Amino acid sequence: MINVTSPFLPPKEEYLAYVDEIWKRNWLTNNGPLVNELELQLKRYLQLDHLLFVNNGTIALQLAIRALDLKGEIITTPFSFVATTTAILWEHCTPVFVDIDKDTFNIDPKLIEQAITPNTSAILATHVFGNPCDIDAIDAIAKKHKLKVIYDAAHCFGTEYKGKSVLAYGDVSCISFHATKLYHSTEGGGVVTNSPDILKKMARMRNFGHAGPYNFEGIGINGKNSEFHAAMGLCNLKYADDILEDRAQSHELYNLRLANLPLTQQKPTSHSTQNHAYYPIVFNSEETCVAAAKELEKQGVYTRRYFYPSLNKLEYIPDTHCKVSQSISERILCLPIYHGISEAEIDMICRYLKRYFQYKS
Ligand SMILES: Cc1ncc(COP(=O)(O)O)c(C=O)c1O
Repeated sequence: MINVTSPFLPPKEEYLAYVDEIWKRNWLTNNGPLVNELELQLKRYLQLDHLLFVNNGTIALQLAIRALDLKGEIITTPFSFVATTTAILWEHCTPVFVDIDKDTFNIDPKLIEQAITPNTSAILATHVFGNPCDIDAIDAIAKKHKLKVIYDAAHCFGTEYKGKSVLAYGDVSCISFHATKLYHSTEGGGVVTNSPDILKKMARMRNFGHAGPYNFEGIGINGKNSEFHAAMGLCNLKYADDILEDRAQSHELYNLRLANLPLTQQKPTSHSTQNHAYYPIVFNSEETCVAAAKELEKQGVYTRRYFYPSLNKLEYIPDTHCKVSQSISERILCLPIYHGISEAEIDMICRYLKRYFQYKS
C-alpha cells in the first residue's frame, strides 16, 4: 500500500534524548525551554525576525485574525483547505470568495478589487501547495484600500519569494507543522509577523491573555504548544535540507515519467522557489479524475482529491460561483509524495497511470 503521504520520523534515539531532558526538568508545557529553542532555530533556519510556535495552523489563522482586529468581510480563496474558511467564520467574520488563477491555483489578484466593499477589512490568501501568491499585486491592492493581509502559508516550509522566506510577507503569515507537512512537530503551527506590536499581542493571546500571573489583557485562547511537540520539531529540523532535496528529486521523477500524459500541472509563481510539498495533477474531466483515483486504489495506491470541494460550495456558505476553483477542484488529484518514497514506487504509480490512460475507453 502506498499512501498519499507518510510522516517523516527522526531516529528514535534523537527524540528520546529530548524526552530524557524533559523528564529531568519536569517542565512539560507553558513556554518551556524546548519551545524557546525551537522558535530560535526556526527563525534562524527560515531567516525570520519573529515567529511564535503555536499548537496548530488553524489556531495560527485565528490568532492572526484576532490580533489584527479584523471585522466584517475578509476576501479569501475558495481553493484551500477548509480551515482557511472556517477560521474566518469562527472569528465571526464573513468570507468573500474571489476566484483563483487557472495556472498558479492561487487567488487571482485581478479579481480582488471588484470584491472590495466598505465592510472589507482584509485579504486572507493561501500559497497553495507552497506556491507563493502574487504577493506584490496583493500588497499593492491592500495598501491602496488600507486592508490587512494574512497569508495562509500552511504548506510553505522552505519556500521563498524574491529571495526571502515567503513567511516574511503580509501582516501575518501562518504555517502548519502538522504531521502530514514536509516539516512537522506532530501537531503544531507558527505565526510570523514583522511587527513587534502584533507579535506581542499574539504572544499574549496564545496564553489566555495573560500579561502577568494575575493580570489579563484582552481575550486569549490556549494556543501554546508542548515540550514534546517542540522536541519533535527540533529533531526534524536537522533533516529539513535532506527532506527538501529528496522531495525535489521525487518531483522531478514524476515530471519525467508523466510528461506525455493528458494532464495539466500547477505553474510555479515567478520569482519563487518551490518546496515540492505535494504532487498535484489535473485531469481533463472529473470523470477521468475519479476513475483514475479508483484504478490506483485498486492497485493499493491512495491519492487524495485535494482540495475538494471548492470552499465556496461548503454547505454553510451562501451559494456563490467561482468557476475556475470549482473546475480545478473537480479535476485535481494529489499523488503520493513523501520523504523516502522510492524511485521504484514512483515508477510503479506512473506505470499504473499510463496504463489507465491507454485502456480507459
Ligand atoms: C491550507 C491549510 N491551511 C490551514 C491548515 C490547518 O493546519 P493544521 O492542521 O495545523 O491546523 C491546513 C492543514 O492541512 C492547510 O492545508
